[in-house]
Formats: sequence, C-alpha cells, structure tokens
Amino acid sequence: MKNGSILVTGGAGYIGSHVVLQLRARGERVVVLDDLSRGFRQAVLDAPLVVGRVGDRAAVAEVLREHAVDTVMHFAAYTIVPESVSEPLKYYGNNTCSTRTLLECCVEAKVAHFVFSSTAAVYGIPAEGVASESTPTAPINPYGTSKLMSEWMLASVAQATPLRYAALRYFNVAGSDSGGRVGQATPNATLLIKVACEVAVGKRPHLSIFGTDYPTGDGTGVRDYIHVEDLATAHLDALTYLRGGGASTILNVGYGHGYSVREVIDSVQRVTGRPIRVKEEPRRPGDPPALVARAERIRRELGWKPRLDDLDTIVRTAYAWEQRLQREPW
Ligand code: UD1
Repeated sequence: MKNGSILVTGGAGYIGSHVVLQLRARGERVVVLDDLSRGFRQAVLDAPLVVGRVGDRAAVAEVLREHAVDTVMHFAAYTIVPESVSEPLKYYGNNTCSTRTLLECCVEAKVAHFVFSSTAAVYGIPAEGVASESTPTAPINPYGTSKLMSEWMLASVAQATPLRYAALRYFNVAGSDSGGRVGQATPNATLLIKVACEVAVGKRPHLSIFGTDYPTGDGTGVRDYIHVEDLATAHLDALTYLRGGGASTILNVGYGHGYSVREVIDSVQRVTGRPIRVKEEPRRPGDPPALVARAERIRRELGWKPRLDDLDTIVRTAYAWEQRLQREPW
C-alpha cells in the first residue's frame, strides 16, 4: 500500500525543520503545520506550510483530510525550561492540551503512526545523572511534566486504538544542518551551545554559567549533547520502524556521554578561536545537575547509527549557522 503524507507540526522550528529536510530528501510527502509563533517561514524552504495551531481542531482535521496524512510527527511545543517554571499554564496549554486535541483528530482521521518529540526532562534528577528508558519518570519542571502527560495520553490512545507511536526522549539537541540551510534562529535563545556561539560572533557580551557548585567533576551542569542531524535521522528511523509494523515504543535519543558547561565553553573557544567571556551565576531554577542517556535501546530497536557524535563537530555547525545569521538575520 502506498504511504500517506506526513504531517510535521512545528516543522518551521529548529528540530522540525531539520526533520523536514531529511524527509523530503528521502522523497516523502510532507505538510508542515506551524503557527509561526516561534518558528520561521523560511525554515520550511519550499515544503507545503499551513499556518495554524495544533490546538485548533478544525484546522488540524482539515490538514489531515486534505493531505491524506497517515503519519504525524509532532514537534510543535514550547521548550524553554525556565519559562515553563514561571509560566506553567502556558506550557500545559500549548504542550499538553494541544497534543490532546491533535490526538483526538488523529484517532478520528485514522492516522496510523505518531512520532512524538519528548524530552529527557521527563526523568528529573535520575540517580548518577544517567537515565535509561526504564528509569522512573519524575520531572522537576513544568516543561518536563507537560511532555510526560502527552506520553501518557499517547500510551492510552495506542492501547485503545490501532494508532502506534514512537516517543523520542531527546537529550540536549545542538548544532545545525551541515549544508547551512537551516538552524536555530530563536530570539533570546537559552540553549547553552547556541548562546555560547552568540557570544563568539559578538551578539552577546558574555555567557552566564548557571551554577558552579553542582556535584559534578568541575561543578557545572553536565548534559548529553546530540547533533540535530543525528536526532533528525532518529525520526526517519522511527518512521521506518513503525511502517514495518514495529510496536509502540519509547526511546532515549542521546549519545550516552556528557560534557560539563565548562567543557562546552572550551570546545567553543577551540573551534571558533574566540575567547568566551563568562560570568559565574547562581543555579537556574529547574536545572538538574547531570543528565546523560543510556542509549542502547534506540540502536537496537531502530538500528539508529549516529554520524556526528563529536562535540567540536556540533559546535562547528552551530557556529557556522550563527555566523550566517549575523550576515543575514532571519
Ligand atoms: C532543557 C531540557 C531538555 C529540553 C531543552 C529544550 C532538562 C533537563 N532538559 O535542556 O530536555 O529539550 O531544555 O530547551 O530540562 N547553561 C548555562 N548558561 C546558559 C545556558 C545554559 O550555564 O546560558 C547550562 C545549564 O544550566 C545546563 C546546561 O548549560 O547545565 C544546558 O542547558 P540548556 O542548553 O539550557 O539545556 P537544558 O536546560 O539542559
């Protein structure tokens, strides 16, 4: 049977736009739904774009019908942890409630496959800072909770209907398309590597280190940084898996090793040849000390093979993108 189209919600955003590129390179039919509140029209290049909200039932139902969608990849969400702490209901509304509406439309339209953009933030503070998929979930910020509730809805829907899903729990996504076509363009970005590259190009005067008293090797937070192109490939692998009849699954997407904030700063200085001015500041609310993936399951179940597992490579692409944004702002 011929495959249907793929609806990519949030396809004009940072991660979604990289997935759209790879899907189209593979010859998939794609339609993007994005309200452009945080995404960019130019990020979808020439892919079909419907400007609308995932929480808008009528709009979603129409896209699913008109494009004969049989797979949904759901990226549209707010993703800034500190903002989720200060404005929790915004996160439960846009991330959880909108996902419920989307799922309802998917069930009605008999969508077969659903790939969900989940997060390592569902683990909270796991023992030793390492989380496998069987580590108990215990989010410590509303962002993580909003995503975990969506996972629960998915699990229930998959039990009650023929829909099958893959929930991908991303660790720290960074870097940009090696072809320089898309990247993260969020104003007032908060993600470490992005912010450090903004300092390197002179867009910001300094980088704040949030917390130097964590129980980690050098006192700063440790994370598992993964290149956005490897992450995007995981979505294509999940699609192949689901189409091949694979059962619903929850998978970590990380490399399985972590770097501290100071190690990231060293890499940015090494790669860019620019000194990064830092200011040491108190811990940021909602941040766990360390969060690194146990990531064997995705390799085993999906045959996922990361190609860019190298911090300097991640930083190099992030920096190239930041330089491009300086020349031609989005
Ligand atoms: C968080 C989520 C992650 C989510 C991502 C999306 C957690 C544990 N992780 O990543 O699942 O996908 O948000 O936004 O909730 N840092 C600084 N200075 C900065 C910026 C960051 O020191 O200017 C430090 C942070 O304190 C942290 C590390 O760098 O230790 C990484 O932070 P960041 O890049 O913001 O990502 P997370 O908050 O880990």
